[in-house]
Amino acid sequence: MTTGTTPWTALRLREVPIPNRVWLSPMCQYSADESGAPTDWHLAHYGARAAGGVGMVLVECTAVAADLRTTTADLGLYTEDQVRGHRRLAAAIKSIGSIPAVQLGAAGRKSSHGIPWDNAGTRHAVPPHEGGWQPLAPSPIPFAGLTVPTEMSTEDGTRVLEDLRRAARNAHRAGYEVIELHGANGYLLHEFLSPLTNHRTDEWGGDRQRRMRFPLQMVQALREGWPQDRPLLLRLPAEDLIEGGLTTEDMTAVAARMGAAGVDLIDLSSGALSPDARRVAEPLHNARYGPAFRAAGVLVAASGLVSEAGRLDEAVPGLVDAVLVGRALLRDPYWALRARNAEPLESWPKQYHRAF
Ligand SMILES: Cc1cc2nc3c(=O)[nH]c(=O)nc-3n(C[C@H](O)[C@H](O)[C@H](O)COP(=O)(O)O)c2cc1C
Repeated sequence: MTTGTTPWTALRLREVPIPNRVWLSPMCQYSADESGAPTDWHLAHYGARAAGGVGMVLVECTAVAADLRTTTADLGLYTEDQVRGHRRLAAAIKSIGSIPAVQLGAAGRKSSHGIPWDNAGTRHAVPPHEGGWQPLAPSPIPFAGLTVPTEMSTEDGTRVLEDLRRAARNAHRAGYEVIELHGANGYLLHEFLSPLTNHRTDEWGGDRQRRMRFPLQMVQALREGWPQDRPLLLRLPAEDLIEGGLTTEDMTAVAARMGAAGVDLIDLSSGALSPDARRVAEPLHNARYGPAFRAAGVLVAASGLVSEAGRLDEAVPGLVDAVLVGRALLRDPYWALRARNAEPLESWPKQYHRAF
């Protein structure tokens, strides 16, 4: 942390200078076309947030293989059609003035469910005979209401690692400058880490060190497919918020190992491993863990109710190095510009200057 740092100070990660520390949090739009490629919706949605002054646009969770999607409307980065669509999206974000980034994901036991607004907002399983697929997970323990997943074999694991390598290469070919691996919210990486979802007795299960092995291999696979001069972020829970689940002490140990394995910044987003996870609705609830993670020697960002302008200065740089803003930026693409409103003519796009 440098003296004089504010939420609007640039942050350089490897060779990528990010113009400020207020970033769009990844949020699934469930609006991909039938090939899993971005659509006009994505261009308009992400383009508006780029014009809205966030330093980095982190495109929603994008699957690294068809059977690792959450729904049939997820974006993917495993075919050439998808790469072409992402190339247009990443170029638009960059030309409008933000850093194009994409979150890569493997859904694990939360895979193959319906689109949220199709079933009154509840997550419902879509079985193979209705167009879904069989989910893979560390252990055959279902997420409430979803399909019982298949326990991943060694061959499945090797394939997932190859999927990650390919997706990292594709993200680079598409023009993204930053990638994030989704390792939180109860998806595959998180399921390997947590003792509640990983009951394996092979080399990928057991004590904390052993449960960390496959997640570390996932990070290494991405690093192999991603240029050394580009940053790799990792979204992790700060804790499971469930009795018997991962603690902050576990997670700071994981963060330190991930930092040593080539992760440049840990992005905190807690909970959602199972419906039993406590829901916390306090402002800055993830950012408050920031100092504990910084002590593990990593740069830290956090999402979670950074939704009032005054909270930005409370979070950066005191608690975290950057913030990710989610729902506030769904409600208002110009949220960041309004938060910075003291100097409208310097920060708003010049196309809009006559509004001031
Ligand atoms: C509609 C929606 C979709 C989301 N999709 C993702 C996602 O693709 N990947 C992810 O890591 N988090 C996802 N999240 C979580 C957000 O990125 C963010 O962490 C969360 O909303 C808390 O931040 P907020 O209080 O600023 O909204 C999603 C949240 C919402 C509301």
